[in-house]
Amino acid sequence: MFKINDNYLKLPGSYLFSTIAQKVAAYTEAHSEADIIRLGIGDVTQPIAPAIIEAVHKAADEMGTPEGFHGYAPDLGYEFLRSKIAKEDFQARGCDISADEIFVSDGAKCDCGNIQEIFSLDNRIAVCDPVYPVYVDSNVMAGRGGVYDAATERFSDIIYMPCTAENNFAPELPAETPDLIYLCFPNNPTGSVLTKEQLQQWVDYANKVGAVILYDAAYEAYISEDNIPHSIYECEGARTCAIEFRSFSKNAGFTGMRLGFTVVPKDLKCGDVMLHTLWARRHGTKYNGAPYIIQKAGEAVYSPEGKAQLKKQVAYYMQNAHVIYDGLKSAGYTVSGGVNSPYIWMKTPDGMTSWEFFDYLLEHANVVGTPGSGFGPSGEGYFRLTAFGTYENTVKAVERMKQL
Ligand SMILES: Cc1ncc(COP(=O)(O)O)c(C=O)c1O
Repeated sequence: MFKINDNYLKLPGSYLFSTIAQKVAAYTEAHSEADIIRLGIGDVTQPIAPAIIEAVHKAADEMGTPEGFHGYAPDLGYEFLRSKIAKEDFQARGCDISADEIFVSDGAKCDCGNIQEIFSLDNRIAVCDPVYPVYVDSNVMAGRGGVYDAATERFSDIIYMPCTAENNFAPELPAETPDLIYLCFPNNPTGSVLTKEQLQQWVDYANKVGAVILYDAAYEAYISEDNIPHSIYECEGARTCAIEFRSFSKNAGFTGMRLGFTVVPKDLKCGDVMLHTLWARRHGTKYNGAPYIIQKAGEAVYSPEGKAQLKKQVAYYMQNAHVIYDGLKSAGYTVSGGVNSPYIWMKTPDGMTSWEFFDYLLEHANVVGTPGSGFGPSGEGYFRLTAFGTYENTVKAVERMKQL
């Protein structure tokens, strides 16, 4: 008789965004006339930039010719894309990362979820609270969670690092020593960032205690201030303690095209074993490569036209972020994020819980956001709004919220 992986049964409740979708669907059914504005889920809304679409067309035409046809992609991704990434995203920022340390994939979510496979089951993980749920859930599925306590909303074997207004939404070094540390900056959901000095402290700590930092930089394109690192490899010593995840979803609108990559430096070792070798083995065994057409689209992200067009696209979303941040602040709300990030993290008014405010906002302003408590217990009493809507809708949503 077969048995299931009962670690899956330890995962609490339904997925945050399906609960939101159900609530919005129920409201829309009862109020068919409502003009609902969605600033909840972190999906982009602007069309793919022309330089990228041109590359897609060209690559599609190539695929229809005997000379231009491409079958399975190389395991690590096409050299034309990996060398562009290494040069433009890393070497141009003074990071010592080479093309053969880049693993192209179909997005950061899969890589963030899968990376734990190359580590022993008895590793202890540390996560920020609130947190992008993939880091916790993928480890719970693998059996690293321990027991879930519904009262504290925490797993017994996971080290939680609260990110609150008191620490400016930046985690402090944990009291217990972790083996794997998930960090995401600019942060989802709080929109906070770490300065280079703060991130350097984490790198020094990880090297000291022999931990690996799993650094999710999916939102680096939104960094606007100096002294905020775009990559963990800007810090000295990161090559021996950090893996970095990147995505084309937020900088180039590829949420529906699917492209990302993971950097595993060859200096990152457990004894004599390079994590690079393990991830290459995993990638080669379980993944068959991002499509040629999409990797060509990715290459166009780094062309002069692509870069110029994407700069405008990011600026468009950041204008929305400013509209939300400034509008809510002037209306008396306590807000943070939104400066180096497309996420605005607001405190719910009048002591409402995150879900109470969700319902209140849906009903009275027809605006949908994301309850902070859905990202972890320290998110209770907070609410996330995203800058990924259209400008017109964003302005309208903020006007409505100002009138509440
Ligand atoms: C922190 C973080 N990492 C990764 C992802 C997923 O990126 P991708 O679309 O490349 O899978 C998201 C998406 O919202 C995210 O918020």
